[in-house]
Amino acid sequence: MLSLVQDLDLRFGAELAEHADAIEDIAAEAFGPGRFTRAAERVRERSPHDPALSLVAVLGSEIVGSVRQTRVAVGGVPVLMLGPLAVRPRFKKRGIGRTLLALAADTARLAGERAIFLVGDRAYYTPLGYRPLPIGSIVMPGPVDEARILGLDLVPGAWQGVAGLVEPRR
Ligand SMILES: CC(C)(COP(=O)(O)OP(=O)(O)OC[C@H]1O[C@@H](n2cnc3c(N)ncnc32)[C@H](O)[C@@H]1OP(=O)(O)O)[C@@H](O)C(=O)NCCC(=O)NCCS
Repeated sequence: MLSLVQDLDLRFGAELAEHADAIEDIAAEAFGPGRFTRAAERVRERSPHDPALSLVAVLGSEIVGSVRQTRVAVGGVPVLMLGPLAVRPRFKKRGIGRTLLALAADTARLAGERAIFLVGDRAYYTPLGYRPLPIGSIVMPGPVDEARILGLDLVPGAWQGVAGLVEPRR
């Protein structure tokens, strides 16, 4: 069960082109320059995120959180890669991150997607339905701590037997 966010003025919606600069600021603040060296960034260089599957949290007129999803394939099977997920420091711990994650999964399901993976902290994502995928099953185009690769089923058994290189969708 999601705990509801407290701010009445907080809204969630699809990412729009006009949000790009604010989202970049949030990512820079959350991850610093090291974000460009991540394996997930190598994926996104070849497969840009899909704004229709990406969401922002807006407080008044300010973007305070963002989550992006990218259509990729793993071993030829279409799946989504989620990330980055970030919330402005002063708005953390109000449920914005987990609401963005839940809405990202709902949006993906409605779009007919079957599964999502991400690289992240187990402690944060497992209460939200993600679970570690078998070590070696997801081959990223760069070094990654494989224990941090987590998957979510949007349809039952979605990750069963899915393995291989993360590549652009054909
Ligand atoms: C991770 C992040 C998106 C969470 O956003 P948020 O809006 O604060 O998240 P929520 O309010 O839904 O959840 C907050 C809870 O998650 C916990 N949490 C946050 N990051 C965590 C982590 N890496 N591991 C375990 N728990 C974590 C908080 O301590 C808090 O716990 P509490 O409810 O017991 O106080 C935010 O902290 C952030 O932007 N961090 C920097 C970027 C980042 O690490 N992104 C994730 C990439 S893997």
